[in-house]
Amino acid sequence: MRTIKLGLIGAGGISQAHCRAISQIEGAEIIAASDLVPANLERMVNNWGVAEENTFADYNEMLKMDEIEAVLVCTPTGVHAPPTVAALQAGKHVLCEKPMEATLDAATSMAKAAHETGNILMVALKLRYTPQVIKAKEIVDAGTLGNIYYAETVADRRRGNPGGSFIRRATAGLGATADIGVYALDTALYLMGHPKPIAVMGIMDNRLSLNNTWNPALKETEVEDFGVGWVLFDNNARLVFKTSWCMNIDSLGGTFFLGEKAGLRIGIGEVRGPQDGIRVYGDKDGEIEDETFTDFESVDVFVAEDTAFIDAVRNGKPSPIDPYGMLMTNVVFQGVYDSSENGGREVEVHVPTFG
Ligand SMILES: NC(=O)c1ccc[n+]([C@@H]2O[C@H](COP(=O)([O-])OP(=O)(O)OC[C@H]3O[C@@H](n4cnc5c(N)ncnc54)[C@H](O)[C@@H]3O)[C@@H](O)[C@H]2O)c1
Repeated sequence: MRTIKLGLIGAGGISQAHCRAISQIEGAEIIAASDLVPANLERMVNNWGVAEENTFADYNEMLKMDEIEAVLVCTPTGVHAPPTVAALQAGKHVLCEKPMEATLDAATSMAKAAHETGNILMVALKLRYTPQVIKAKEIVDAGTLGNIYYAETVADRRRGNPGGSFIRRATAGLGATADIGVYALDTALYLMGHPKPIAVMGIMDNRLSLNNTWNPALKETEVEDFGVGWVLFDNNARLVFKTSWCMNIDSLGGTFFLGEKAGLRIGIGEVRGPQDGIRVYGDKDGEIEDETFTDFESVDVFVAEDTAFIDAVRNGKPSPIDPYGMLMTNVVFQGVYDSSENGGREVEVHVPTFG
């Protein structure tokens, strides 16, 4: 079995979870790293055995290394597209951290580069590897819910703002909507079978952070801490998508799906619902009959997603998380942003096509 040699772009916070995961996967090794901060490169040398000569301030230099077959992109969200596109065009496969990007144009450039080069682009949506989402997808695909005509999906925190690169427009691009909202939105689109969004109405706001009483640093927040979208799909299904980093309430509601035959609630990680559980609301012979699924095993989702990526690279499989489906999260983010800029009025949205 050949060893898949990887390069890392962006050796900050979350990259360390991937370093730990890759170190546990047989036949995979991070051999090079790029970051703008020298201390982060030193950490790659000292903690993860990367040779000093394989550390770079400029990722384009790292991408010249022929032995690198695949690249992990862990830069801030608004800086995902340039390294991802450069890596794909340099002949590398890419695992890029969530969300795909901040703007639809940037996300489209990534999906287009993957399409044109034929290289793998996987977006790291760790919740897809939880037993809860896997089970929920099985339930939906078995037809238990029938046609899903309405859903609400929520990722919320009462006092959970991140700081640093996450609250700056230049690095993050978007705030809560993309940061934690991507988990709720991706879970919903995945379970609904990726219908195409055609219209979005939404709002984005950051008044609570700007006027907050608990952390002066958050008064400099440049992106939204709260976002709500109403999405219409081409199959006539509707979705309400709500997310916040901070709020003066305990919850924005739960994540649920209404089907013609049954309904389903799910809660896992950032996705609000019956925490770590699934409940199916149905009936049998005219009597209400519900089923609850709990006691899911605990899974190391970083090891699971990185293993899936390495397996796809080694065996020439398609991306384990289809970039085209991921692009739809950006279609919705962009719709919420554009609608908000337009006073909350409905905007038409389009899923880009290639080829
Ligand atoms: N999957 C998860 O659980 C999870 C958790 C946290 C963050 N994330 C995602 O990971 C990404 C990074 O988040 P983070 O918390 O690690 O942020 P971070 O700010 O700690 O790290 C980002 C790193 O990228 C580097 N960087 C920026 N521009 C660069 C460039 N042009 N070339 C090379 N390096 C560059 C920065 O110097 C920094 O070290 C974000 O998109 C975020 O949404 C995912």
